[in-house]
Amino acid sequence: MSAALLEVQDLTITFRTDAGTVHPAKGVSFEVAQGEVVGLVGESGSGKSMTAKAVLGLVEPARAVRSAHIRYKGRDLNRLSAAELFQLRARDLAMIFQDPMGSLNPLFTIGHQLTRVYLQHGPREGSARERKRAARARAVELLKKVRIPDPESRLGQYPHQFSGGMRQRVMIAMALMCSPTLLVADEPTTALDVTVELQVVELLKSLQAELGMSVIFISHNLGVVARLCDRVMVMYAGRIVESGPVDRVLVNPAHPYTRALLASMPRGRKDEAPLRPIQGEPPSLARLAPGCPFRPRCDLAGAGCEVEQKLVTVEPRHQAACHRVRAA
Ligand SMILES: Nc1ncnc2c1ncn2[C@@H]1O[C@H](COP(=O)(O)OP(=O)(O)OP(=O)(O)O)[C@@H](O)[C@H]1O
Ligand SMILES: [Mg+2]
Repeated sequence: MSAALLEVQDLTITFRTDAGTVHPAKGVSFEVAQGEVVGLVGESGSGKSMTAKAVLGLVEPARAVRSAHIRYKGRDLNRLSAAELFQLRARDLAMIFQDPMGSLNPLFTIGHQLTRVYLQHGPREGSARERKRAARARAVELLKKVRIPDPESRLGQYPHQFSGGMRQRVMIAMALMCSPTLLVADEPTTALDVTVELQVVELLKSLQAELGMSVIFISHNLGVVARLCDRVMVMYAGRIVESGPVDRVLVNPAHPYTRALLASMPRGRKDEAPLRPIQGEPPSLARLAPGCPFRPRCDLAGAGCEVEQKLVTVEPRHQAACHRVRAA
């Protein structure tokens, strides 16, 4: 049996839209090891959120998702009953969604929202009163962990009484209430200013190390990914086009798309070359030309690219889907 905590094989998502059939994920396969932090990067619309949600069984309708298997601790999620899947999702897996305001209910206090998660999915021992007390203690503990000052009095406040950065921390606290083994964090820092973003990233990093959880971290910001992640997967048009250790992919990218993406983004280095936007438009998933989906924007495109390339190993643990890279 594989040592991976999560194993996704051949995941495809299919939607029929007015413009035609689209695949926000197509033939996506990857693994996440216990305690590993994996970054998922790519332009807007490349399928990052949909891939993450599909793994957690959150894409509706469920029949839009097809995969050879999604295994978690060796158990095939496709074969679990609805009740087993619900239990697993509630206890072991947690997600921080892209939009914190949309995920916090403005009508309830932070305390209510944090304790509810614990009461619904946390330990079942004790009387209702004891469980409520335990949930409150857990909420205070986690607000402390995410460094919200004066957590006891903060529990009685509403989301609008928190700053954007604090709301983001509350979302992290909420995701950690039931000590998940795998946390999926979808752009948890994108709405924040740079200083607060760095604080939240450092916080996530220390919590991850303390709790030993695995993390799938979705981001536009390659600097943040470099700081936080062990490994990175680059998505383009619903495919993983490159994957490998962060210090290899971001330093020695193999796929022309990854190179273009790196050249188009500030990385906060003094010796940085001037930024170059990626030529052309991000692809419309409904009108992908056959072959490599990056072909219309690629400097290196040529003979052979009309046939899509699979991921090939370019060096140990580093793979890219391009005819122009030399296989190891
Ligand atoms: N319900 C749906 N029906 C049809 N297409 C959809 C649906 N939901 C998402 N898509 C399409 O799936 C593609 C991937 O969306 P996704 O939200 O995963 O992108 P993303 O990589 O997370 O982008 P961003 O960085 O902007 O968050 C997009 O092109 C989107 O238009
Ligand atoms: Mg997204």
